[in-house]
Amino acid sequence: SSRFLFFLAMQRVMKMIEPISLIFSYRCYVDDKVSKVAWLNRSNIIFAGQDKWSLDPRVDLVTKGQLEYSLRIQKVDVYDEGSYTCSIQTKQQPKTSQVYLIVQVPASIYKVSEDISVNEGRNVTLSCLASGRPEPTITWRLLDPSAEPLDGEEYLDILGIMRNQAGRYECRANNDVATPDSKYVTVVVNYPPSITKATDSETPVGRLGTLQCEAVAVPTAEFEWYRDEKRLFNTQATNIQILDKTSILMIANVTEEDYGNYTCVASNRLGEHRANVFLYRPGTGRDINGSACVSQSLWLLLVCSAFVFFKC
Ligand SMILES: *[C@@H]1O[C@H](CO)[C@@H](O)[C@H](O)[C@H]1NC(C)=O
Ligand SMILES: *[C@@H]1O[C@H](CO)[C@@H](O)[C@H](O)[C@H]1NC(C)=O
Ligand SMILES: *[C@@H]1O[C@H](CO)[C@@H](O)[C@H](O)[C@H]1NC(C)=O
Ligand SMILES: *[C@@H]1O[C@H](CO)[C@@H](O)[C@H](O)[C@H]1NC(C)=O
Repeated sequence: SSRFLFFLAMQRVMKMIEPISLIFSYRCYVDDKVSKVAWLNRSNIIFAGQDKWSLDPRVDLVTKGQLEYSLRIQKVDVYDEGSYTCSIQTKQQPKTSQVYLIVQVPASIYKVSEDISVNEGRNVTLSCLASGRPEPTITWRLLDPSAEPLDGEEYLDILGIMRNQAGRYECRANNDVATPDSKYVTVVVNYPPSITKATDSETPVGRLGTLQCEAVAVPTAEFEWYRDEKRLFNTQATNIQILDKTSILMIANVTEEDYGNYTCVASNRLGEHRANVFLYRPGTGRDINGSACVSQSLWLLLVCSAFVFFKC
């Protein structure tokens, strides 16, 4: 029977990727013993002999003499998917050959959540919608620090978000047709300040005293410094500087009156955190309130000195 009819293309399933390969053509070889030929799309006749039954302008025949009777579809799209049949009537019997056209479309993300800023503890849902054929699978990762895959598909639910879940999220859609598509969502998690380090200073009279206060917060904390109830500002005697997450109070020329208790207040719109920091005379340690020693009676001063002496 192969004397009358053969197909050059052995592959019976053709996969096409839209929009990379736009022309589908399947060769159907016949010989001169054949009396009737036709191409069918499912059960619709596309061509019967040289007569075109289909109204689709993208479809035509490629023929070479009487030996080739091939179907060509230009600008293939997903609706063209399905089986196509080349049907041949020889003198003895009808012969058919089918090819199944699979149209694949690379995964493409068409909608993804906007970047967001939320308060710690809130529930967050990120969405990522993608199209493609076959249906893409969607995966999520928080890129920093571990980039471990997260449990979520189109929707990623984060219940009671924590500060360590802030960062850049990657949504990836893959259907193994082409390179996966990726989109990114930045999530900012706001939380009130927390003072992580408050550094005392042991400074002799006449020297530069530096007190430090470090706070983590989102948005970044603002700092205020107090000496007892009195707020301190930048003056000739005191200078306040901010270095990243740390505020530094510098007392240019420490005097006896400067010894004592200072308060650092770190605040943002979500709250504040306070810490006490001490400036003390060398050798006294932070247990002794230096200013109390000078401002109290001579007797007290002696007790203070004795205590210092004892400690040494
Ligand atoms: C095949 O048939 C389907 C409907 O049955 C139609 O949508 C599609 O356009 C047809 N394809 C060709 C190439 O004729
Ligand atoms: C977060 O979601 C959980 C479970 O759906 C719910 O119980 C909780 O009240 C939600 N929390 C907030 C802050 O909306
Ligand atoms: C330091 O000052 C703060 C606020 O003025 C006060 O609450 C705290 O008790 C003081 N600490 C000491 C050790 O005096
Ligand atoms: C520090 O203060 C003392 C006493 O007020 C003064 O004598 C001294 O000149 C000052 N030193 C500096 C470097 O300003």
